Amino acid sequence: MECSDQITLPLLFAVGTAVIGSLQFGYNTGVINAPQTIIEGFYNETWTSRHSEHISQATLTTLWSTSVAIFSVGGICGAFSVSLFVNRFGRKNSMLMANVLAFVAAAFMGFSKMAASWEMLITGRFIVGLYSGLSTGFVPMYVGEIAPTSLRGALGTLHQLGVVVGILIAQIFGIESLLGNASLWPLLLGFTCVPAVVQCVLLPFCPESPRFLLINQNQESKARSVLEKLRGTVDVRADMQEMQEESRLMTREKPVTIPELFTTPAYRQPIFIAVMLQLSQQLSGINAVFYYSTGIFMRAGVPNPVYATIGAGVVNTAFTVVSLFIVEHVGRRSLHLVGLMGMAVSAVFITVAMALLDQLAWMSYVSIVAIFCFVAFFEIGPGPIPWFIVTELFSQGPRPAAMAVAGFANWSANFLVGMGFQYVELLCGPYVFIIFTVLLLGFFVFTYFMVPETKGRTFDEIASSFRQSASSESFGKYAAEEFNSDF
Ligand code: GLC
Repeated sequence: MECSDQITLPLLFAVGTAVIGSLQFGYNTGVINAPQTIIEGFYNETWTSRHSEHISQATLTTLWSTSVAIFSVGGICGAFSVSLFVNRFGRKNSMLMANVLAFVAAAFMGFSKMAASWEMLITGRFIVGLYSGLSTGFVPMYVGEIAPTSLRGALGTLHQLGVVVGILIAQIFGIESLLGNASLWPLLLGFTCVPAVVQCVLLPFCPESPRFLLINQNQESKARSVLEKLRGTVDVRADMQEMQEESRLMTREKPVTIPELFTTPAYRQPIFIAVMLQLSQQLSGINAVFYYSTGIFMRAGVPNPVYATIGAGVVNTAFTVVSLFIVEHVGRRSLHLVGLMGMAVSAVFITVAMALLDQLAWMSYVSIVAIFCFVAFFEIGPGPIPWFIVTELFSQGPRPAAMAVAGFANWSANFLVGMGFQYVELLCGPYVFIIFTVLLLGFFVFTYFMVPETKGRTFDEIASSFRQSASSESFGKYAAEEFNSDF
């Protein structure tokens, strides 16, 4: 009895609708990059009219870094709240409800200029951060739960594809002749309400996660009919059997809380891996590029920095598509390793190019190519994999709590880079990317020794490997090796 691995229209429709949430996250990640100087001009004007003096450079840097990074503070709070919603309201309704935040945020940001209030803009960034934090839990969880096992990685990568397309749209809209200018930037920020409307219209036509229906709500016939629709066949026995098995095991376990993730031996190893993978994504320095690349390119002497930023967005999208097509063949672990090493090497080239810029003008081109490679390698593995692997590493019981903890770790590191990068760059000058090289090499070693392959395995098979590995008290490389050979 084979699980059906067909891509059906209802499955694509449901995944496509869910990843509008990912697109929102990406849009708001990329949207403040290109119009930085223009919005800083608005801060300066507002400041001058209130205090009758120009804003100091130090205050402006602080205000701008706050506007960028408050988004991740919202993300931290949102991600941490994921488990409060998903079991109570279901996966689909949680996604639907979150859109209220997108509308409120759009209003705050869109009317901030009219109200001459940078406080409104910062508040709006915080609220849309809350929305994005929730989305980074809701979307991978929903997609992972409705996907057939053999397509879980490819469909999981669609979350990241949503993110990168969102970033790219924001970068294009941010061009000065479109919306990135002194009069239209409020529209650029307020645009986030458009995908929210689209998602609110489409979500009611999507099914609830069948795993949630069966395992959490015990609604067997509903789960079966949703599965039949998603798989495009009436023979869903294999899927049902697998979920029933998981459900049976779960009734033997107590509901899993966040502290229990750390105290129960069978969860300790996967939660440690999940957190480290999230940290490897953010501390790779990727958002130094996506928040600040226009400034970086400007300092590197690139003639059209905004276009170079868009170039980074295009490379970003193209390589996410590459990862989408190879992840089910090559596997998560190998792609993550290749991505981390490629980024570490690219970061060395970025540093060399920045350091030699004064002596050799053509180094500005080397810096563009190196930054593009940095982004390309990110999307091969460290971009998409950490988001969906958390769903894979845990079964239904601990999954919401694990998502919350992993999301919290991801967003906290995102905040650290968003807030700290400009200051560290002032201190280290062209050598700032060396810090990321060192971190990337550390994460490479960790992944090599600790991260198991999850490709093609059911949630239950993965969870029971961790149970076995916990009971044999194995650790380190032995743990990953034992896990992998166990398949
Ligand atoms: C990932 C990261 C996000 C980053 C994006 C870049 O989704 O979580 O912070 O901006 O990739 O593509």
